[in-house]
Amino acid sequence: MYTPALDRLDPADRPAFYAELAEQTAALLRGERDRIANAANLAALLWLTLPDINWAGFYFVDGDELVLGPFQGQPACTRIAIGKGVCGTAALTRQVQRIDNVHEFPGHIACDSASQSELVLPLIQAGNVIGVLDIDSPRLVRFSAADQAGLEVISRLFVASLGDE
Ligand code: SME
Repeated sequence: MYTPALDRLDPADRPAFYAELAEQTAALLRGERDRIANAANLAALLWLTLPDINWAGFYFVDGDELVLGPFQGQPACTRIAIGKGVCGTAALTRQVQRIDNVHEFPGHIACDSASQSELVLPLIQAGNVIGVLDIDSPRLVRFSAADQAGLEVISRLFVASLGDE
């Protein structure tokens, strides 16, 4: 498995890195539609491949809350109101939240005090937000626009793997 240190992951190389990761994701999820199984495997793949992260996982919509799904990293808060924190904001606005410094995000929910920056991608299936993919880093400004673009592809592969559910 390719696990470069972020320092060696030249910004110019990130599209190639994410192209390879997208291929790995498609192969990992192929032939399985179960949401928990695919989320668990994808969280593990991201954990093993993305340098400089301390949490990677899913929250899924449950009424007016997000509830914790499969993840890798420290135990985390189980429920987040939609609209609260970085995850709830991504779910409410349907916009990717790429936060360079979580301490400057009003209402950030600190599950792991090591987290410094965060990328949260809404998961949209047939026009509905079904959850978010959340990745935390112990480094400030860990996630670039190239990381966001690459992980948007990955998150769409996850949603597509579920079929129509
Ligand atoms: N920081 C998130 C909470 C989830 S943890 O990072 C795993 C937030 O503010 O929504």
